[in-house]
Amino acid sequence: MRKYSLTIAIASLFIFFVQAQTKKPAVQPKKPTGTIVQTAMIHGKALYLQYCVTCHQADGGGVPNLNPPLIKTPYVLGDKKRLIKILLQGLNEDIEIDGEIYSNAMPAFSMKDQEIADVLTYVRNSFGNKGPAVTAAEVKSVRATLK
Ligand code: HEC
Repeated sequence: MRKYSLTIAIASLFIFFVQAQTKKPAVQPKKPTGTIVQTAMIHGKALYLQYCVTCHQADGGGVPNLNPPLIKTPYVLGDKKRLIKILLQGLNEDIEIDGEIYSNAMPAFSMKDQEIADVLTYVRNSFGNKGPAVTAAEVKSVRATLK
């Protein structure tokens, strides 16, 4: 009887160790490198829903003849300075996107540097867009040229 329980004890000890070993992840998870971008995307989405969604819509598709789409346009994915300026100064000129002319005015936004950076990072990486993030420092330097 004693011998029997000793065998069980050794066996369960063995199983315990095997389980402890297999529970360890084979590869240690890498340090999160995209943390800042992820925060910017979450913050940027909230700002988009607050400031932009009424005109440019939740899918970035805009409203035909009124508000242009934000999907892969040269303004969204092109020169960051021009894009930042649109938010800081608004836009009121005839622009052509996907063969359509838009001439309504977009208002300027008095948002903080970080807010403009995050909402633009969000727009540049949503609706099928893929583009490098916009930083608060970039917004700051564009703002300085406008004074
Ligand atoms: C009151 C409606 C309105 C709001 C709110 C608005 N926009 Fe616009 N947006 C427009 C219009 C209209 C144009 C075209 C302006 C023109 O033709 O001069 C435009 C143009 C743009 C463009 C350049 C053209 C393009 O489609 O790529 C970008 C980029 C843009 N808006 C981003 C934003 C972002 C980001 C926000 C939120 C912070 C925002 N807009 C809020 C109406 C709006």
